[in-house]
Amino acid sequence: MNGNKKAGVYPVPKAWAERASTDAQRREAMYVASIANPDQFWGEHGKRIHWIKPYSTVKDTSFEPGKVSIRWFEDGTTNVSYNCIDRHLTERGDQVAIIWEGDDPKDVARITYRELYAQVMKWANVLRSQGIRKGDSVTLYLPMIPEAAYAMLACARIGAIHSALSSQCPPEVLASRIADAASTVVVTADQGLRGGRKLELKVNVDAALDKLPKVVKTVIVVKRTGAPVGMLKGRDHYYDDLAETVPDQCPPEEMKAEDPLFVLFTSGSTSKPKAVVHTTGGYLVYAAMTHQYVFDYHDGDIHWCTAEISWITGHSYIVYGPLANGATTLIFEGIPTYPSASRYWDVIDKHKVSLFYTAPTAIRSLMGRGEDAVKSNSLASLRLLGSVGEPIDPKSWEWYHRVVGGGRCPIVDTWFQTETGGILITPLPGATDLKPGSAGSPFFGVKPELVDEAGDVLDGVAHGNLVIADSWPGQMRTLYRDHERFEQEYFSRYPGKYFTGDGARRDADGYYSITGRVDDVINVSGHRIGTAELESALVAHASVSEAAVVGYPHEIKGQDIYAYVVLIDGETASDELRNELVSWIRRAIGPIFTIDKVQFAVGLPKTNSGKIIRHILRKIAEDKCTEFGDTSTLSNPAVVDHLIDNRLNRK
Ligand code: WTA
Repeated sequence: MNGNKKAGVYPVPKAWAERASTDAQRREAMYVASIANPDQFWGEHGKRIHWIKPYSTVKDTSFEPGKVSIRWFEDGTTNVSYNCIDRHLTERGDQVAIIWEGDDPKDVARITYRELYAQVMKWANVLRSQGIRKGDSVTLYLPMIPEAAYAMLACARIGAIHSALSSQCPPEVLASRIADAASTVVVTADQGLRGGRKLELKVNVDAALDKLPKVVKTVIVVKRTGAPVGMLKGRDHYYDDLAETVPDQCPPEEMKAEDPLFVLFTSGSTSKPKAVVHTTGGYLVYAAMTHQYVFDYHDGDIHWCTAEISWITGHSYIVYGPLANGATTLIFEGIPTYPSASRYWDVIDKHKVSLFYTAPTAIRSLMGRGEDAVKSNSLASLRLLGSVGEPIDPKSWEWYHRVVGGGRCPIVDTWFQTETGGILITPLPGATDLKPGSAGSPFFGVKPELVDEAGDVLDGVAHGNLVIADSWPGQMRTLYRDHERFEQEYFSRYPGKYFTGDGARRDADGYYSITGRVDDVINVSGHRIGTAELESALVAHASVSEAAVVGYPHEIKGQDIYAYVVLIDGETASDELRNELVSWIRRAIGPIFTIDKVQFAVGLPKTNSGKIIRHILRKIAEDKCTEFGDTSTLSNPAVVDHLIDNRLNRK
C-alpha cells in the first residue's frame, strides 16, 4: 500500500493525517495530560455532555483492598436520554438518528431525532404505566429492532435500570437473568427474525416465567412479525395497546451521576456470568468520547456497529456513544450471510456506511467465503474499519484491510470488556501507525500495566497479565447487589489494581497485543503461550478459516495442545493437511509447541457475541463431555454435538 512501509507496519495514510481530529503529537499531549492530572483532564472533558447540575468533584476512586469504590462527577446530575436526544433537537431534529435494516433487505426504516424523541417519551410513559419508577429494573429481551433502542433510552429517561439480554438466550437463562436482575417488567417481541429464521421470543418468555410466577408482573410485547402468540390476561400487553393509553410527553428524570444506568451480564466464556453495573455520568462521558476519538467521528458519518445491542459493544457503540454525539447509527437485524454472503457489503453500499465496526469472528467467516462476495460492491463510502471482541489475527486483519477497506481505511482493533464500559486500548486512526494483530496503545486516562504472576510490574518489552492501575470514568462500579464478589473477582489477585483477566504482550513501541484470557494460557513443559498466538498462527495457513486451541493434561509435559480447526470453503480434511498444520505451527512458533491433536470441525462453540467458549473445548479434549458446566451462553449446540462425536481423545 505505502511505498515507505516498515515491515508489518501501516503508517497513517496521508489523507488521514490531514483530516483526522487527532494526530500523533496531539494524542501524545492529551494522553500525558490525562495521566498527569485526571481531575483536570476529565473535569474538562466531562463537559462534553449536558449536566442539569454541574459537578464540582471529578474523580473519587479507590482500588484499595476492602475499600474499592469508584465515583466520578459525583455531585453532578444529568439524564442520559436527554443527552442522546433532546439536546440535539434544535440542530438535528430532522437528521436521521437510527437507520434500521431488517433481516429482509426490503425492511428499512429511518428514524429522525425528532421521531426518536416522540417514541422514547411514549415508551417511558408506557413503562411508568406499568409501575416502573426510578431505580427499578426492566429486562429487555428484544431482537435488533429500533424498539430495543427506544426501550433502553426510555429506561434512561425515567431512571429505570435496563438489563438487556440477547434474543438468542434460551428460556432457562432468561429465567435466571430476570431473577438476578429482579425485574418486574419484561419487554419482548412476538417473534424475532434472524437469517430468515424465526426466534420464538414470546414463547421463550412464557417458558421462563413459568419458573418465576411471582417476580414478573408485566410483559410488554412488541409486534415484530405479527404472529399470534399466547397473551396471559393481566400480565401480557401489546406495546401498541398500552401506548394508546399514555400521554405523549415525558420530561427526563434528574439523575445523579452515580445512579445505575444498566446491568449487563458478561459473556461468560469462562465462569458463571456476572451482572456488571454501569452508572450514568462517567459511563456516558466515556462512551461518547471514545466513540468520537476512536472512530474519528465527524458530522455526516454513518456509523454501523454490527454487534448485538444487548452486548456492551451495542450499548456503547450502537446506542449511547453515537447518539450522545448526535450521530446516525445503523441497527441491523440480520446476519452476515443472509440472504447471501455479501449482505454486510450490500448494507454498506445501500446506506453509505462510513464507519464499520465488527468482530473478528465475522471477518474470518466472510474471508472463508472468498473475495468475490465483497467485490460485487463498491464500498466507496467506507472511511474506517473497526474490530472488537477477540484478538484479530494478522491474516484476517490484512484481508479486512485490503479487501474490505480497499487498502485505504485504517483498522481500529479495539480492546475492551463489558466491565470497562468503553474502549481502553486502541489505535487512534489519525495518530497511530497500525500493526496487524495489535490493539495499539491506551486511550486517554487509561493506565495499563503488565504484571507477572507475583504481581511485579514488568517494564518495556514484556508478556504478562494485563491490569489497569487506575480508574477511568467508564469503569463498572460494582456487581449487581454483590460488591464483595466484585472486589474478589477484579481487585484481589493484584491488590490495588483492576485485573482484566487477559494476557498481553507489549512491544518496543509500547503497542499491546492481547494474547487471550489468562485462564486459557497453555503451559507445555514450562513454556507458556497464549491461545490467541497459536490460533493466529493456525489461521495464517491458507486452508484454515477458524481455529481454537486448548491445553489438556499430559503426564510429563504438564499440558499438551489440542487444536480445533475449521477449514475454508472448498478445502477437505485429510491426514496430510493435519501433518502440514502441525509442521506449520512448529515453524511459526517453535518445536516446543508441537500440536498433539488436530480435530477438524464444522464450527466452534460460541457465545451469542461470537466468542469461542473454550471451557467446552477443554472438556471435549479431556474426554469429559458430561462436565461442561455453564453452557447458558452457547449459541450453537449442534456444533458441540458434532465436536463430541468426532473427538480425538477417547478413553
Ligand atoms: C476479548 C467485549 C483481543 C478480551 C468488548 C476481553 C479482545 C473480552 C478484544 C471481553 C480485542 C475484546 N483484542 N481481545 N480487540 N476485544 N477482547 O466482555 O479477552 O464481551 O477480556 O466485551 O474479549 O469480552 P466482552
